[in-house]
Amino acid sequence: MSKSAKLAVLGSINADHILNLAHFPRPGETVIGKQYQIAFGGKGANQAVAAGRAGADIAFIACVGADDTGERIRQQLAQDQIDTSPVETIAGEATGVAMIFVNGDGENSIGIFAGANAALTPACVERHQQVIKDADALLMQLESPLESVLSAAKIAHQHQTQVILNPAPATQLSDELLALIDIITPNETEAEILTGIAVKSSEDAARAAGALHEKGIGTVLITLGSRGVWLSEQGNGQHIPCFRVEAIDTIAAGDTFNGAFITARLEGQAVVDAVHFAHAAAAIAVTRPGAQPSVPWRAEIDAFLQQQG
Ligand code: ATP
Ligand code: RIB
Repeated sequence: MSKSAKLAVLGSINADHILNLAHFPRPGETVIGKQYQIAFGGKGANQAVAAGRAGADIAFIACVGADDTGERIRQQLAQDQIDTSPVETIAGEATGVAMIFVNGDGENSIGIFAGANAALTPACVERHQQVIKDADALLMQLESPLESVLSAAKIAHQHQTQVILNPAPATQLSDELLALIDIITPNETEAEILTGIAVKSSEDAARAAGALHEKGIGTVLITLGSRGVWLSEQGNGQHIPCFRVEAIDTIAAGDTFNGAFITARLEGQAVVDAVHFAHAAAAIAVTRPGAQPSVPWRAEIDAFLQQQG
């Protein structure tokens, strides 16, 4: 694959309302926040931005509402080097929203209103099928209707477009969908929901990866937060640690990892090198607040890697 290999990302766009507080409110409790910001997010958009800023040739299939937020997000995506022609504006719908609490340990808890993201139907996928056919890889997540993810995976599979799925938020998936995936990137929770195997050790990760290989997926990358990833290719597994940084907010760490990883793969980097590149991008992201505001540009990732030797 060359530098001009094309990426299609299909997924969600949200306006993130982020409230930092000392601890998560318990049922019935009110906690006074320390800081509040609205920033652009959504797993699909975050991954598209991570790829765009890392240098991918990328088009994004998504939906925004016919509101001011949707228009501003579309403009920002274009500035992030993304072809937004497959981003539809849905009349009568609001742009998706995520309400995010971040506690004093930098952990987050998220509630979502899909809004216009629900309009990313199989019919919408069909309208943009040429983008998928023309791409070398299709990257998706699960904040879009599942039947649309399946339709897109089928189109990609039929046209030799590699399918990479970040199965977040966690849910069980059909064998039909899993069989169409080339690379899957669950975190530990998602891996457990997909396989029934709790990932507490390398042995568990190897078994969970094995269960996903049995469904027909060649490459499994289980992300382990600050411990890095478990990479398993056709059953050959290894732990690849990530960089040690002072994490302040892990929102979009996984999204940055995914967008950067597939960008590096499409440049022809070996899988292990692409994981290092993605670890660097995600390490930078966790040192900054918010989703898209935290995603680094290529020059920042290259400088970080150089510094780390
Ligand atoms: P999120 O839902 O918070 O976006 P996730 O659960 O999908 O993330 P994680 O497994 O938490 O994904 O992390 C993905 C990658 O981000 C890790 O493999 C690593 O590269 C990077 N990362 C996450 N947390 C840290 C950290 N504390 N320090 C350095 N890198 C981190
Ligand atoms: O992965 C982080 C994202 O999840 C946030 O940007 C929020 O929009 C939710 O979709």
